[in-house]
Amino acid sequence: MSESPETERTNARTHSSPLNKESRQIRGMFASIAHRYDLVNRLLSFSQDRRWRRVCAGKLQELLPESAMVLDLCAGTGDLAIELSRSSRVVACDFCHPMLVLGQRKVESGGGSGIIRFVEGDAVQLPFPTGSFDGVTIAFGLRNLPDYVAGLREMCRVLRNGGTLAVLEFSQPRFPVFKQLYFFYCMRILPQIGRLISGEKGPYSYLPRSVREFPDPEQLETLMGQAGFASPRHYRLTAGIVTLHLAQARKSSGKAD
Ligand SMILES: C[S@@+](CC[C@H](N)C(=O)[O-])C[C@H]1O[C@@H](n2cnc3c(N)ncnc32)[C@H](O)[C@@H]1O
Repeated sequence: MSESPETERTNARTHSSPLNKESRQIRGMFASIAHRYDLVNRLLSFSQDRRWRRVCAGKLQELLPESAMVLDLCAGTGDLAIELSRSSRVVACDFCHPMLVLGQRKVESGGGSGIIRFVEGDAVQLPFPTGSFDGVTIAFGLRNLPDYVAGLREMCRVLRNGGTLAVLEFSQPRFPVFKQLYFFYCMRILPQIGRLISGEKGPYSYLPRSVREFPDPEQLETLMGQAGFASPRHYRLTAGIVTLHLAQARKSSGKAD
């Protein structure tokens, strides 16, 4: 994958430390599937992934001021950032260079209507000043962080007081029969299709495992509270396969706007 001069590598926070081994593995895993990432997403989700991101952007934008500044974390190839850029200024941040390069190319070839700045950075040590965003989104990214609460705290830090967090993440369906079918698909079929198309086995076996291990929506709301968020609420999409969480940043030193 070629380098892109437009993709900023920034280390604005001087105390940022190098990635640990687990995070380097995760980054390598995403780099290995970047070239097929969008195609596999569309196929494995029967194109529902587009609708999930549209719902996320729509719900968030109802809560944001005009020309809000939004950070899309773990942005991957930029699909949610592109959706958000229809009515906000967007910074798309991810630690995987090949993903960002693909996102940048998508925007340059007319994939987005607004302005998106692509920045390389680690979600648990963000290279942005405190209180610099009206909204933060993270779609299918939180599950990959080494420490969920540390990641959520960083999101709270970079949000202005009262700013909105939107987390879109896989979750487990509640209806027993559907849940069984869903896990059969996730454990048996999805890894095979993912491997066939991307040429990589690991990432698509990791996916169902990480979904099973991720906290359920109620537990995640508790973690959000620990990280400094208030008024958490969630919306289950597609029978609970995916959940959209919204919450407000609550800074102890000031009042919410
Ligand atoms: C499943 S993809 C989701 C991409 C995109 N948000 C989407 O909706 O398709 C997860 C992304 O999170 C990124 N990621 C994982 N851990 C990260 C971290 N600690 N800091 C920044 N990005 C991270 C990966 O590089 C990958 O691009």
